[in-house]
Amino acid sequence: MDTAVLTASTARYAKAIEASKKVRWDIDKDVIRGRSFDLTKKFMPDKLAQIERFGLTNADERKFMSQIQGRTYSNIFGLVERYIGAKMMEITRGHALGDQVVVESLVRFTDEELKHQELFRRLDVMMAMDMPKGYTFLPNPNDVAGAVLSKCNWAVLALTCHIELFTLDHYRQSIDRDAQVSELWKDVFLFHMKEESQHAVLDEMEWQREDAKVTAAERDRGVNDLIDLVAAVDGILQVQSAADIEYFTRVIPRKLDKAETQKLREALLGAYRWQYIASGVQNERFMQILTAMVTPAQMERIGSALAPIMASATAS
Ligand SMILES: [Fe+2]
Ligand SMILES: [Fe+2]
Repeated sequence: MDTAVLTASTARYAKAIEASKKVRWDIDKDVIRGRSFDLTKKFMPDKLAQIERFGLTNADERKFMSQIQGRTYSNIFGLVERYIGAKMMEITRGHALGDQVVVESLVRFTDEELKHQELFRRLDVMMAMDMPKGYTFLPNPNDVAGAVLSKCNWAVLALTCHIELFTLDHYRQSIDRDAQVSELWKDVFLFHMKEESQHAVLDEMEWQREDAKVTAAERDRGVNDLIDLVAAVDGILQVQSAADIEYFTRVIPRKLDKAETQKLREALLGAYRWQYIASGVQNERFMQILTAMVTPAQMERIGSALAPIMASATAS
């Protein structure tokens, strides 16, 4: 494709197509390569898992906590990709008879998310075969997608941009830097990140395009919807962190008293809030895009809604 003759906006979509073709990977040939998860290694890197918060001194318990978090991390991506794929199909439909470069970039985006969902479904089956019995992932992808997609485009694109940007940060700032992480688990998120890099660019452009279309009143509703979506994500994290601690306490040989169980529950909720909400809010690019769109008063509304979550995510 000769990008020199394209408009600046189309050129960015064309670049995303080029990059998507270049990094394209196959689940079996490139990622899994006949391997299984090495349970002698941790999954989630210490920094991202906020492992020090748990006060666990036993090496096996620390490793198990990291593996539970790593399994939930992979399942959360499989979960959100259901709504992201559905939203992207809808957005693509709106471009169908317009710029065909944009259409191609978004079709590739959706195709990649479908592949990622397959990858994450397969990983959970693999983890279930090797990890102790009893893990449950509670949120249902279609229920969550139904709730997210009931919100306006502006808010759904904001949430999506936030997710795809923190995906990149997690890999670059934590996953890539921890040499003790299971090689397969690390590879999954290396390959995932390579395709998410394009998604983050496309989200930004589609969110900005939507922002240019909405009235001030519609944008204000978008801010409310975004606050509702963050609260919904937080609801999912509360339920799943409780389920994950129940699994942890059932599997480890040591019996925990009520106070320690409660401490672990709070630590895991804080870690999940860091992973799925706070780390994205701290992404510089995300904040630049958001700040350029909203009024200071709207930003303050978002900030107040986030304050308790941010406090719990960054508590030590
Ligand atoms: Fe993905
Ligand atoms: Fe994505």
